[in-house]
Amino acid sequence: MATVMITGANRGIGLELTKRYAAAGNEVIACCREPDKADALQDLDNVQICGVTVADGDSVAALAAEIGDRPIDILINNAGTPGPAPDQQSALQMDFDGWADAFAVNTMAPLRMLQAFRENLKAADGAKAITITSQMGALDLNWPVMYAYCSSKAAVNKVMRMISVELANDETAVALIHPGYVKTAMGGPDAEIEASESAEGIISVIEGVSLEGTGCFMKWNGEVHAW
Ligand SMILES: NC(=O)c1ccc[n+]([C@@H]2O[C@H](COP(=O)([O-])OP(=O)(O)OC[C@H]3O[C@@H](n4cnc5c(N)ncnc54)[C@H](OP(=O)(O)O)[C@@H]3O)[C@@H](O)[C@H]2O)c1
Repeated sequence: MATVMITGANRGIGLELTKRYAAAGNEVIACCREPDKADALQDLDNVQICGVTVADGDSVAALAAEIGDRPIDILINNAGTPGPAPDQQSALQMDFDGWADAFAVNTMAPLRMLQAFRENLKAADGAKAITITSQMGALDLNWPVMYAYCSSKAAVNKVMRMISVELANDETAVALIHPGYVKTAMGGPDAEIEASESAEGIISVIEGVSLEGTGCFMKWNGEVHAW
């Protein structure tokens, strides 16, 4: 059984991933900003709830100290924010502070987590570093909406693609996964799939992630995503 660390584990896709990995007998380190309010995580077996604010370096360092040298088989960078209100992240109207926040959470935090837990991944056998990105970050998909969100996801795609080369030396495989258009707080009620369906697909995709294909950009349903 694996040790799986998941950020943004308290709701949405992260919660569904946590439930499934834990139910399958894996040990899940379920990370969230406010553990005391993470009611959905409280009664799950095989789940260690950890508080961390992924965009805060001190907070991530404190989590790393808490976890120590425990091997981590799968790190899933899932926590994410849509950024400013849609009408505040357009070509003509931009909340620049909100854009910076979106970058801190969606782009920098996944790298921060990878840096903090690199040795834990290295200590595991065949570790995987996964980032939940979005189709909105694909250059191939050129919709002029949500500038802050889209650019933060495009940037994390590039960062993870680059680090996949370096982490191959640790024998850690890296993958980016678009989770689908999902009915969560972020996706809204009119989205296409349930979070449970997305999580099942993501877990199946993660099973297939390997060093041979490291640096890939996949969809939740197993298809390769265009960059
Ligand atoms: N839903 C979709 O259609 C869709 C599509 C493409 C990609 N995605 C990606 O999928 C991932 C999960 O999204 P979701 O749909 O499950 O969204 P969600 O239900 O809104 O959950 C978002 C998670 O991220 C955490 N989070 C939000 N802002 C944060 C911040 N500033 N610092 C730290 N954590 C923060 C939330 O924690 P709190 O509860 O503390 O706020 C929550 O755990 C995200 O990376 C998102 O970009 C979603």
